[in-house]
This record gives sequence, structure tokens and C-alpha cells, in this order.
Amino acid sequence: MDENRVTYSVPKLTDYSASALEKAAGECIAACQAESTAVRNDADLKAFRDRWIARKNGILTQVNDSWLKGAPKDAKREAGIRVNEIKAAVADILDKAGYLLLETSTASLARDSIDISLPGIRRPIGAEHPVVKTTNEIVGVFQKLGYSVADGPVVETDYYNFEALNFPPNHPARDTQDTLFIAGQQSKPQRERLLLRTHTSPVQIRTMEKMRPPIRIVIPGTVHRNDPPDASHSPMFHQIEGLAVDTNITFGDLKGTLDHAMKALFGSSVKTHFRPSFFPFTEPSAELYVTCFICGGIGKRGADPCRPCKQTGWIEVLGCGMVDPNVFEFVKDNGYDPKKVSGFAFGMGVDRLALLKYGVDDLQYFFQGDVRFLQQFG
Ligand code: PHE
Repeated sequence: MDENRVTYSVPKLTDYSASALEKAAGECIAACQAESTAVRNDADLKAFRDRWIARKNGILTQVNDSWLKGAPKDAKREAGIRVNEIKAAVADILDKAGYLLLETSTASLARDSIDISLPGIRRPIGAEHPVVKTTNEIVGVFQKLGYSVADGPVVETDYYNFEALNFPPNHPARDTQDTLFIAGQQSKPQRERLLLRTHTSPVQIRTMEKMRPPIRIVIPGTVHRNDPPDASHSPMFHQIEGLAVDTNITFGDLKGTLDHAMKALFGSSVKTHFRPSFFPFTEPSAELYVTCFICGGIGKRGADPCRPCKQTGWIEVLGCGMVDPNVFEFVKDNGYDPKKVSGFAFGMGVDRLALLKYGVDDLQYFFQGDVRFLQQFG
């Protein structure tokens, strides 16, 4: 409470005339009224109440003791009327102060609360990026076959990206990967040098180091190659790796699994076709083609040539093969004895599949973050 306002004290009366009593009572009520306007909170209100109506030494008690009890006999009646008047007025002022306080607190509550009947702010809802969507679809197909999802670092060592995948040191096969190396690594032994992984295959080794066979995993992730960006190339792109290792896994399992996956992804009418290929970490190796899901394998769209399959009716979707025994040698101690286990692996480029699937004609749209492009997938 504002201390300056608490200046009133009950005067001793010498003059008990009616007019003097009326004046004294008026001043007392006015003082109470003035003090009440300084009440701002519950603590103020309590102090204000105590000061005026405390039985022991409150102002009303003082007024009663001094002005009524101390009044000469012939002034008692008049003094009684004034004292009662003061009591009623003070009770009234106290009531009002309490009520006002309540009112301001409910007013501030009302001010601070929200009107839940007002229409809300509509926030634009994002959508899955076409590459993420395609990744999730592909991963989903393999999850239904019992595969789990693994991942690994994008900045990789030469050992995991090449050496343990059976790329001999300085072998020309490394050149086909257009590797981006981290600068300033020359003083390190080759296998420790850091690079941006050129494929998701290093995670095959990393996973086999951690998990004993049997395993079935898919590994989605970004990879980098020193390719200048154009309509069908990007220095950063996405792959999904697959690896299954168990006893008695055969090329038949590889073909059956991938044939099923392609039908689940592109429709049950697609046909698959395996062509011999080479990868250092699989033997034998193959490239998998599916009948073009744009032209249906005819190579033409009406009278026009089908561009996505270059009129061949086939689209290359991935590289695959049986895990090379030399690869198992690197993780032999964790249960991957090439005499006991066998497996297959595959790796596919997600971006190119997303391009074909959504009929996008420039890969760069995927990475420019242009909302006008992305909104079409919302
Ligand atoms: N890592 C290979 C690539 O990026 C693809 C691949 C993966 C091939 C697994 C065979 C087995 O080209």
C-alpha cells in the first residue's frame, strides 16, 4: 500500500458539538476512502482491513473508545450516531475494495486468456519430399520381408568405402567412383584417409562388424561423387543398400527377392532381367533391369519414342550380386566364415527412380528447395 496515504490517525476530540462530531466523522470516512484507492493486491487489502477494523487498536476501535466512550453524557447520543455512521461507511468501503480487487483479477484473467472459439491460424502442412517418399516406399517393401534398417557415416574411411569391399589399393575400379576426398589427409596411411562415401556399401562391412549372421538389412543414405550437376547427375544423391547373409543363400534367393520387390514397387506386371556386370565386392555381379514402367516395355509411347528407357523397353534399377568371399574375410571373426555363410547384396539409386516415378525431367529440381516444385507433391 502507498505509505504516503496512511497518514490518518484518530484525533482526540475536545469539542463534542454536533457539528464538530460531524466534521470529525466526515474526515475519518474520507481518510478511509482515500486509503482504499491504494489497494492493489490481496496483501494491500489485508493491511487495509487490519488497520481499520482490527479489534485490537484498529481505527474503528480507537474511534469507538475515544469518541464514544470518552464523550460527555449529553454528547453520547450524537457521538453514537456518528460512530455507527463511520462503521457502516468503513464496512462499505472495505467491501468495495475487496470486490474491486476481485474484479480486476478476473478482468486480467479475461485479458490473458484466449478465445477458443476464434478461428485458428492455419499453418501450412509440409509434405514428404519425393526422394524421401520413394525411399520410404522402397524401405517399406523390404521391411515387410523382415529386413531391418541400418545406417552409417557419410564421411567414411578409405578402408570401409574401398579396401574392405575388395577394391585393391590403386586399382582402377576406384576411379569409376569419382571419389571426393577430404583435403589434407596425405600424411595418413591410405586406409585411414577420409572421403565422402561414394556408395552405401561401406555400411555392409560396418553392420557385419556389429551383428553376427544371419542378417537382413537395408541401408538408405546420401552418397557423393565428383559429378558436375546436370539433368541426370548430382554430386550428392541417395542410395538404398541391401544385404542378406545366412547359410545357403543362393543367387536364386537374390533373384526371387528382387523380382518380388520390383513388382511390389512398380506393379505386378513388371518383368525383371539380370545382366552380368562387375563390382569388386560381389561375385557374380549383375545389373537389374525392369520393363519400363512408363511405356510398359514397348519402347514407344504412341508414335513417340519413350525417353526414360531410351526406346529399349528396359530401365536399369540397381547393381547386385553374391557377396564376394573376400569381403567376408574382413569380418570373418564375427561369424562370417565364407565357407559357412553366403549372401547377396544390392544397391540402387533412389533419385533416378523418383525421377522416373514422378515424371520429373531434371534431377536438380529435387535439390533446389523450390517450394513451387515441392508443393506439387503435397
Ligand atoms: N555400391 C554399388 C554402386 O554404388 C551398387 C552395388 C551394391 C552393387 C551392392 C552390388 C552390390 O554402384
